[in-house]
Amino acid sequence: MAASNVSWSSRTTFIFAAIGSAVGLGNIWKFPYEAGEGGGGAFVLIYILFVFAIGVPVMIAELMLGRRGQHSPPKSMEIVAREEGRSQLWQVIGWSGVIGAFFVLSFYSVIAGWTLFYVYQAATGALNDITAIGSGAMFNALLSSPVLMTIMHGLFMAITVFVVGRGVKGGLEVAVTWLMPVLFVLLIVLVIFSLQTGDAGEAISFLFSPDFSKLTANTILQALGQAFFSLSVGLGAMLAYGSYVPKDVSLPRSAVIIASADTGVAILSGLAIFPIVFAFGLQVGSGPGLIFETLPVAFAQMPFGSVFGAAFFILLSIAALTSSISLLEPMVAWLEEHKGIARAKSAVVGGGLCFLVGILTVFSFSNGPAVTVLGKTPFDHIDFLTNNWVMPLGGLLIAVFAGWLMARKTTVEEVDRSEGAIYRVWHFMVRYLCPVALSLIFLQFAFKVF
Ligand code: PHE
Repeated sequence: MAASNVSWSSRTTFIFAAIGSAVGLGNIWKFPYEAGEGGGGAFVLIYILFVFAIGVPVMIAELMLGRRGQHSPPKSMEIVAREEGRSQLWQVIGWSGVIGAFFVLSFYSVIAGWTLFYVYQAATGALNDITAIGSGAMFNALLSSPVLMTIMHGLFMAITVFVVGRGVKGGLEVAVTWLMPVLFVLLIVLVIFSLQTGDAGEAISFLFSPDFSKLTANTILQALGQAFFSLSVGLGAMLAYGSYVPKDVSLPRSAVIIASADTGVAILSGLAIFPIVFAFGLQVGSGPGLIFETLPVAFAQMPFGSVFGAAFFILLSIAALTSSISLLEPMVAWLEEHKGIARAKSAVVGGGLCFLVGILTVFSFSNGPAVTVLGKTPFDHIDFLTNNWVMPLGGLLIAVFAGWLMARKTTVEEVDRSEGAIYRVWHFMVRYLCPVALSLIFLQFAFKVF
């Protein structure tokens, strides 16, 4: 079945799905930790600037290519390139999406599996009264057991496959319309609780009073990369979701709503986490350990902490799931369309392969037999290649294609029929600002020029 006759039931379901894709481990786990390392307020400010000045125009372009093509990412690019009289090599945007998203999912699912493990621990009461030593031991026990990590990774992948296999209406839509509101409610409750119990003043001044002396060229580029990852752009996910967007939906409006919600969740996550971090004297930049090792200790010391601890990990799992389905979708849409394999089967095949590749990540984190290739773990390689090469390059190619190679008539039709200020601002950004900024991030990662 071709993807062309499937679409989201309404603008709202599309917005929910796209916000679901954007909001994930990147917001709740990575953003606070990167903000912590990048000097707090200054990083937050620059990040927000990148989200709206660069991320949003590229997202509009990516959704546009999907909606124009009406198929899986490679096929959509084939169709649009033909329509615009451009080389078929532009299909590379679709391919890098399918392959890149597949590899991102392979490690994303392993980390999401850790989250499921913590949901289980919270539910069985293992996190009640946990001490710093106990919590460190629990995290270590997880990392020392490749079998346990593989089981949790498999479980998470199975849930992702189940949702994607049921299709756009029966799976993706049902999942996002139920899960996204739950996620928002949980997060807001957690923020209120955290601001009351933790050190709200310290957290707010950390997040919102910029200290520009802490900014380096590298942090600036880090903020740009994080903006891309967090918005889910440059990896075919928005191309795939864009192919299901009805013609009468305004792409610029949608992209601004998606980006605002994504940024809002990142900031709310900061407000949920940092008051606890400061109140308990934890380290702001402790990375993965911040969530998995240190937060349970803080929860254990709070009134009703076990309930909120469980709520937190459930929230993180939900956020990860609505992102992982968008990572599997490009490949499934392609398998379904090109190989004629039924959707459910495509999801099982795609998810199954991805599960197998994910085992490389399991052994990357394993405390026991950690595997390295050329001095780095497979996870480091996959993360480096996707985050530092595939995504910025994908974004750059999307901006160049949309800004320079598509006829003005086509982009006007898709982006803003009135050809008013919205169109002109978008066109300027996608033509000049985005390619320049993205070339800089790419050069930095490729050659460390600064
Ligand atoms: N945006 C997701 C997150 O923040 C990750 C993601 C990246 C999802 C790219 C889809 C495509 O966790």
